[in-house]
Amino acid sequence: MRALARLTVATTLIAVSTAAIAVATHADAADAPAPITVINADFEDGTVEGFTGRSAEVLAASTAQAHGGTRSLSVTGRTATWNGPALNVLDTFEKGTSYTISVWVRMADGSDSARLSVERRLADTANYETVVGNTAVTSGGWVNLTGRYTLSTDVDHLSFYVETASTTGSLFLDDVTVSYTPAVPIQTDIPNVKSVVTEFPVGAAITGAEILGEHGQLLSKHFNSITPGNALKWDATEPAAGTFNYTQADPLIAYAKANGLAIRGHTFVWHNQTPAWVFQRADGTAMTGTADDKALLLDRLENHIRNVGAHYGSAIGTWDVVNEVIDESQSDGMRRSSWYTITGLDYIRTAFKVAREVLPTAKLCINDYNTNVAAKRDALYNLVSTLKGEGIPIDCVGHQMHINVSWPTVAETEAMIQKFVPLGVTQQITEMDVSIYTSSSENFPTPPADRLLSQAYKYRDMFALFRKYASAISSVTLWGLADDNTWLDTYPVSRKDAPLLFDTTLQAKSAYWGVVDPTRIGTTTTAPTSPSSSSTGNPTDSPSPSASSGANSCSITYRVTGSWQGGFQGDVKITNTGTAPYSAWRLNWQFAADQTITQLWNGSVTQNENSVAVFNAAWNGVVPAGGSASFGFLGSWTGSNPAPTSFSMNGNVCTVA
Ligand code: XIL
Repeated sequence: MRALARLTVATTLIAVSTAAIAVATHADAADAPAPITVINADFEDGTVEGFTGRSAEVLAASTAQAHGGTRSLSVTGRTATWNGPALNVLDTFEKGTSYTISVWVRMADGSDSARLSVERRLADTANYETVVGNTAVTSGGWVNLTGRYTLSTDVDHLSFYVETASTTGSLFLDDVTVSYTPAVPIQTDIPNVKSVVTEFPVGAAITGAEILGEHGQLLSKHFNSITPGNALKWDATEPAAGTFNYTQADPLIAYAKANGLAIRGHTFVWHNQTPAWVFQRADGTAMTGTADDKALLLDRLENHIRNVGAHYGSAIGTWDVVNEVIDESQSDGMRRSSWYTITGLDYIRTAFKVAREVLPTAKLCINDYNTNVAAKRDALYNLVSTLKGEGIPIDCVGHQMHINVSWPTVAETEAMIQKFVPLGVTQQITEMDVSIYTSSSENFPTPPADRLLSQAYKYRDMFALFRKYASAISSVTLWGLADDNTWLDTYPVSRKDAPLLFDTTLQAKSAYWGVVDPTRIGTTTTAPTSPSSSSTGNPTDSPSPSASSGANSCSITYRVTGSWQGGFQGDVKITNTGTAPYSAWRLNWQFAADQTITQLWNGSVTQNENSVAVFNAAWNGVVPAGGSASFGFLGSWTGSNPAPTSFSMNGNVCTVA
C-alpha cells in the first residue's frame, strides 16, 4: 500500500539520471532519432565559450582542473550563493522541446551543494526554476548534474546557471552539453482513444509544455478532457497571501477551450503544494488551532476558492474541491493535516459550500488515492455520507487509481465503485496510471516486456470495468500524457517508470491497445502495415496499386522546424491531391547548397551529392486520395540552407505548398 509523503513541486522540470534518459520503450527504438547536441562547451579553446557571471564574479578558462582535456572554466570572486556561471540560451532553446542539460562541477576548496537552475524572464518579471536540485560537491572530484528542461512560455531572457546552497567558494565547470531528441511524429493512423471509449470523457493530466508540438497533437487526438497536473494547486495560484497568479494554468485552460476539451480543476485544498504562509498567523508564527487561527484559516480558504473559482468560472466543469483528506489509520479516518488539526472537518464543509456558491454548475468532487482498499474506501464512504447528510454539496467521488501491473484486482475495484453508488454521487477516475513496478525496491533500466504486457491487460480490464459502470462514472483521467513525463519517475523513488498509454517517444504501447483494441496487445506497438485492421478483412478492400500509373498528383510541404549552427531539422508532408491512392512513394528533390541528410525517420533515404530520394517506410506507403504521409529528418549545412523549390513523387512533379 502506498502512503504519499510530502511531495516537492515540479512543474515542467524533471530531473532524471543519465541512465534513465537512455531508456527507449518504443518497440522500434532503432528508428527513434538519436539525440542532437546543440551546446558542447569544454573550454579547451581557452575561452569562456559564452559563459558569463551572474554578478561580478570572474570567469576564465583554466588549466588548474579539467574534467576532460586540459582546461575547465574557473569561477572566482563569488559573493553570493546565487552567483555562478550562466549561459544565455534564448536563441538556442525552442518552446516545447525537452533539452537535456549536463554539466560537470567541482569546488576549488571545501565542499557545498550545487544545483542547476534556469532563469527565464518576460518583460522584467523573472522566474527561477530548478533543473537539478542540490547535489553534494567537493574539491576532491567532479560531480555531474544532468536534468531536463522544457520551456513552455514566451520569454525575452533565458539562461541556465550553476549556483550553490550555502557557501560562495570558487567553482570549476567543464564539459557542458545540451542535447535534445527530435520528436518522432505521432501516429495519426491509429484510433483516437476518445472515439473508442465514448461512455465518458477520457482525460490526461498535463504540465505546461504538453500542449505544444507533438505532445499537443497527441493530446487533442486522443483525449477530450485535461487536468492541469500542478498549475491549479495553491502554491501555483496563490503563492503569497492575496496574490493570485494564473500564468501556469491560463495557457492550459485556453488550449482546452480552443480544442473543446473538458477541464478538471485540481485542486482547491490539499496538504501538499500549499505554501507555508497559509498556516501561519499574521506575525509569521505557526497556527496551533485556536479559535482565531481557525477563523483566519477558513477565511483564507474561502478567499482562495472565491478568487480561483471565479477566475475560470464555468470553463472548469469539475473541481477536486478537497484532495486526500482520509487517513484510515486514524480512529476517525481523517488525515491529520494542518487543515484538519486547525479546523476539524470545517475546512471541508467551508470548501464545498463556497465552491458551490461561486460555481453553481460545477461538479464538486472529493478525491483520494487507494480508495480500492477496503478500510480507506469505507472511511471515505462514511465521511461523504455524513457530510451529505448535513447538506454539504458533494457531487462526486474521485478515485485517483495510482495502481500497478499486479494491484489491485478488478473485483476490488468493482467493489469500490459499487460502494459509492447508493450515495447518489457521480464517480470519476481522476489520476490513473499503472506503474510497471510492484515494490519500491525494483528498478529496471528498460521496461521489461512481461511488465508491459501485464500493464496492457490491467488497462484492458480496468477500462472494461469502467465502461460496464458507465452510468456511475462520469470521467476517466490518466495522470500524464506519455511516459516521457510521469510523476512516477521521481515518486516514490527516482527510477524510470512507464505507466501510461504512450511511450517516451509518444508512440502507442500495448497499454494503448489494451484500452482501444485488446486483440492487438503484444502484437505490435506501431500502426498497421496495411489498412486491413480497419477494413472488413476482405483483401479487395485494400487500395489497388497505382504507384507507377503516372496518375500520382502530389503537394509537398517542406518545413525547417529547427536550425542551429551547422545543423537543422526538417519535416516533409506529402499530400495525395489526386483521385487514386498511392501504394508506395518515392520523393525526389535537389538541395541547392550542399545540405546533407544525416538521419531520417518514417522513411528511408539515399543521397547522391545534392540529389535526394526518400522512400516510404513499411507502414506509410499507402496514401489514400486526399490523405498524406510525413517524414522528418536531420541535416547538416554550411553557408546557407535554402529550401528545395521543386519535388517529384514517383516521377511526377508536385506542387509546393
Ligand atoms: C503530483 C504531480 O504530478 C507532480 O508533478 C508533483 O511534483 C507532485 O504531485 N496525487 C495527486 C496529485 O492528487 O496532485 C499528485 O500530482 C500525484 C498524487
